Amino acid sequence: MTEATNDIEKKVENMTTKNLEEDVVNPWEVASSSDKGVDYDKLIKRFGSSKVDEELIKRIETVTGKPAHHFLKRGVFFSQRDMHQILNLAEQKKPFFLYTGRGPSSEAMHLGHLIPFIFTKWLQEAFDVPLVIQLTDDEKFLWKDLTLEEASRLSFENAKDIIALGFDVEKTFIFSDLEYIAQSPAFYKNMLRTQKLVTYNQVKGIFGFDDSTCIGKISFPSIQAAPSFSSSFPQIFNNKTNIPCLIPCAIDQDPYFRMTRDVAPRLGYIKPALMHSTFFPALQGAQTKMSASDANSSIFLTDTDKQIKTKVTTVNKYAFSGGGTTTEEHKEKGGNCDVDVSYQYLTFFLEDDNRLEEIRKTYTSGELLTGYLKKELIEILQKIIGEHRQRRSQLTDDIVKQFMTPRKLKFDY
Ligand code: TRP
Repeated sequence: MTEATNDIEKKVENMTTKNLEEDVVNPWEVASSSDKGVDYDKLIKRFGSSKVDEELIKRIETVTGKPAHHFLKRGVFFSQRDMHQILNLAEQKKPFFLYTGRGPSSEAMHLGHLIPFIFTKWLQEAFDVPLVIQLTDDEKFLWKDLTLEEASRLSFENAKDIIALGFDVEKTFIFSDLEYIAQSPAFYKNMLRTQKLVTYNQVKGIFGFDDSTCIGKISFPSIQAAPSFSSSFPQIFNNKTNIPCLIPCAIDQDPYFRMTRDVAPRLGYIKPALMHSTFFPALQGAQTKMSASDANSSIFLTDTDKQIKTKVTTVNKYAFSGGGTTTEEHKEKGGNCDVDVSYQYLTFFLEDDNRLEEIRKTYTSGELLTGYLKKELIEILQKIIGEHRQRRSQLTDDIVKQFMTPRKLKFDY
């Protein structure tokens, strides 16, 4: 075992210990004992990543010539690995590519699922680079009660929600594992190379697998690792094995990529760089993330205007509020933005910095009432989801097929 892996195992051992003070963050579970949610600074230390600091944000602005996305300024993408190396490449006009993904476990995607994709789209436009999007229908078949046929269908449906965000078909390849792996010897070879280097003991440490875990799950991490290597997409990268990769993802996916970064140099490949996001809080409060299997914890892209309104307004039943229990109490003591879910949602979706700051000030002082805060949020969400619904309804199966066909993109290597 390499030293790096040893180190990973120690770190992950700490991570999976269900010590009450420690937040639980892994690909299958996110839980915090604090109503402010996961302590992200602590997570950076535990995972051994780096903070997205002012200096990095400034550098991203300088290199791209664009103002930073509000997800950067507001700490949504808060952690990273090797981002300075990616910026060095961009400065020298050298190529890299983006990789992200989604496990299609349900028909309806919710607001939280959009966060990495919205940011990925911004990165793709700011740096003008190719993007590969992995739909892990195989993962969901192994972990959930789904048939292979159903998992395949969900991939196709989820691809529509992703495409509806406005990705460029000439620069983006979306693939279902179930379809693409069977057609791509190059991808399968990278899976095998990874499988040969990682022991059962290591994945046990990283992912908490045990003796009753089926062997499909045990080998799955090699499938999520493979798209980090440009040689898995010979049609895009003209068989080049050394085009570096940047992965925007939620921080719960980091265990996969710690493993990937550990094997990469031993395969003669470059370690993927990463940008990690915080979790999008559940309506009930920031102790956990939105979940697709709990209808009341989430706002879905398929929700009607009325459903959005009901979910946000039903104070303390669905949407957790940091406001006072009565108007008098609220005016006297003020609201608590740190735990107020409606305010948290505004930090994700209200782009106007000045308006957000005004809301924060007046809500904290008690001047702005919870009802007004919620009204503003409802309007913003209805607009975003309404526009999404509109764009999705215009997508034909043919467009989805174009995105999902293995092909060369608009970049030469
Ligand atoms: N495992 C992820 C999920 O369940 C899907 C995924 C695959 C992914 N590859 C990725 C997510 C790369 C982020 C980045 O949602």
